[in-house]
Amino acid sequence: MSNLEGLKKEAAVRAVALVRSGDRVGLGTGSTAKYAIEEIGRRLQSGELSGVVGVATSEASDVLARQVGIPVENLDPRPLDIAIDGADEIAPNLDLIKGLGGALLREKLTEIQARRFIVIADHTKVVTRIGEKSALPVEIARFGFLSTIERLRAILPAGRLRQAGAQPYLTDNGNLIFDAQIPAGVDVAALERQLKGTLGVVETGLFLGMAERAFVASPDGVTELTPR
Ligand code: A5P
Repeated sequence: MSNLEGLKKEAAVRAVALVRSGDRVGLGTGSTAKYAIEEIGRRLQSGELSGVVGVATSEASDVLARQVGIPVENLDPRPLDIAIDGADEIAPNLDLIKGLGGALLREKLTEIQARRFIVIADHTKVVTRIGEKSALPVEIARFGFLSTIERLRAILPAGRLRQAGAQPYLTDNGNLIFDAQIPAGVDVAALERQLKGTLGVVETGLFLGMAERAFVASPDGVTELTPR
């Protein structure tokens, strides 16, 4: 396991220590969330936990959860006790960019319903401002996508349609993703409102004011961050 992978796992294990028997748990997506799903499975197998049910934020996490022995249910209107997921960027107030793995819509639908949303990451994801390192994924409908991209470029001029080889990348929901650079100095709450008001936009990767805490692993250990 590479150093970075080891750090992702350390952060995941810290977050999974918060899961209690009987919890309904939002299961994130990506290379860090994978370790959380495996750790929940391990704790169920060892008998440390019982009665945990998962709600998966992607087809891939659904498959992995079942493989490690976590019963999986669909999202319904009941609150989730906790959700654990990675992020692409973590700002000091715990605003996030998510969706480089393409699962932003199901992630936001799931994590908004969690009483506790816990972020797990290695130290490379911490930024001083949203948009510093990562593009912002914006999920858009396939129908009329060129028109939607034109509307989006009027708001965020630098961006491109995500590709998977020669084809446009398709989300689990059959939509496309436009990855856009956020210029410095942008008010992200206003940007979120503007993007959500843009015809053809299904969801954005801005997760604002949602995270309760983050476990960030670096070679010096795991730091627990709360919104500042
Ligand atoms: C999935 O769509 C994303 O939101 C991921 O949670 C995010 O991209 C972090 O993924 P990694 O843990 O693989 O970096």
